[in-house]
Amino acid sequence: MLMTDPVPVSEPARQFHYMEVARNLVRQKAEEAGRPLSFFVQTFGCQMNARDSEKLRGILQHIGFVPGADETADFVLYNTCTVRENANQKVYGRLGYLQTLKKKNPSMMIALCGCMMQEPEVLQTLRDKYTFVDLVFGTHNIFKLAELIVRALDQDEMLIDVWKDTDQIVEDLPVDRKYSFKSGVNIMFGCNNFCSYCIVPYVRGRERSRMPRDIIREIESLVSDGVREVMLLGQNVNSYGKTLDPGVSFAELLETVSGIPGLDRIRFMTSHPKDLSDELIRVMAAHPNICRHLHLPLQSGSSEILRRMNRRYTKEQYLQLTDRIRSAIPDISLTTDIIVGFPGETEEDFLETLDVVRRVRYDSAFTFIYSKRTGTPAAVMENQIPDEIIKDRFGRLLTEVQEIGREQTARFTGRTMPVLVEQQNEQDASLVTGRLDTNAVVHFPGDSSLIGQIVDVHLDTCRGFYYLGTMLPHSQDTNLL
Ligand code: SAH
Ligand code: SF4
Ligand code: F3S
Repeated sequence: MLMTDPVPVSEPARQFHYMEVARNLVRQKAEEAGRPLSFFVQTFGCQMNARDSEKLRGILQHIGFVPGADETADFVLYNTCTVRENANQKVYGRLGYLQTLKKKNPSMMIALCGCMMQEPEVLQTLRDKYTFVDLVFGTHNIFKLAELIVRALDQDEMLIDVWKDTDQIVEDLPVDRKYSFKSGVNIMFGCNNFCSYCIVPYVRGRERSRMPRDIIREIESLVSDGVREVMLLGQNVNSYGKTLDPGVSFAELLETVSGIPGLDRIRFMTSHPKDLSDELIRVMAAHPNICRHLHLPLQSGSSEILRRMNRRYTKEQYLQLTDRIRSAIPDISLTTDIIVGFPGETEEDFLETLDVVRRVRYDSAFTFIYSKRTGTPAAVMENQIPDEIIKDRFGRLLTEVQEIGREQTARFTGRTMPVLVEQQNEQDASLVTGRLDTNAVVHFPGDSSLIGQIVDVHLDTCRGFYYLGTMLPHSQDTNLL
């Protein structure tokens, strides 16, 4: 393909055109350098960003970059997160280091993308202080990476292409999966919930769902490529399909996905408690390949704080919901997110949170210190909580969450359960590490040939947040043989 060929207007054809152009440019540069050009993608933030990074890596490999080990690569991309302030600080810190590397390798390209780039103040800071960055794009146009690289190579100053929002979903671009046996699958993008503390709706745009047939087709092709577990991804999967015509519910989608032959495990993230339907609970209970794990962010146990967080459920509604889930699926593992120190949180409010933690008994919980995000309604609320009080509450919450988490995790000790083996153990090469369908981690003696298999493991002992086990003889996965 030549640079002079007409550029297709529609996607993904346009991007395949640019991938060809970029491939030629990368090849030329590699010839000049006398070695292949390498890339390195660093991901910050959530599963959504991790999946985006797989797509970005897919494009980079497609255009001829080879994977590099670290930031000394020729093309370095940070896929950023801005959900809490400390996420931003990490990126600025690392940029200083990238600048020193670029001085040694002037043809190095530095690119930034993801949620942080959707904030106008961040773009201003980059323009003012980080002029050595070559390429900046946001969350809505990652599919354009090849086109952006072609343009950035053609100009000296920083290329910035950040969209405010989009209704476009571009399918069928290359993906480089981190794991051969499991994969995230986007089912929707964006968020319309506007929880008052949260920046995600501003940086990820309005909610839009992929068509069920595109999702099913992607999963079928993943399964035929060896994938056994998928994680359906969305900021709130329970609002899946509301914007589609004809409408389709998340429960319906999940039920269809559970019928895909050869798919052993299905997970999903995240479920908002306000609209988790009884139909969803029924579907989960009815299909053994839907994992016995539900991540159900609580945020706060105080109905008053929940109201001001715009979460649209009360403490009582949350507790009733977890009761319904537990009675339909007794073995289920519940996990959660909790924010400490939301503006105006009193000691009584905090005790309500502890009360929910004690009653629900989470297998694990991510606990966060409230972080003020410019532009969100909570940022201008009165009564921001002093640091000492937050630290004290955070410590008390963590103690409680960990103690209960330890007891909860240990409840299967002595049982034999299927484990999907994910990797060789990082500390001890004679062990492998995998997960139960409840998401609990299990280490047991075994070798790397087991990676990607589902095997029966006797759970000998529980050490806090993980099990040590023994694989049953002859439990090697026959599906694969
Ligand atoms: N869509 C998901 C959450 C995405 S953000 C959901 O609604 O559950 C992941 C978690 O970060 C949230 O659940 C929340 O606990 C935390 N979080 C979001 N904004 C925050 C903020 N401003 N300060 C502290 N924690 C925050
Ligand atoms: Fe943020 Fe709430 Fe949307 Fe989750 S549901 S991403 S917490 S606004
Ligand atoms: Fe962070 Fe963006 Fe996810 S802000 S948590 S990476 S959606």
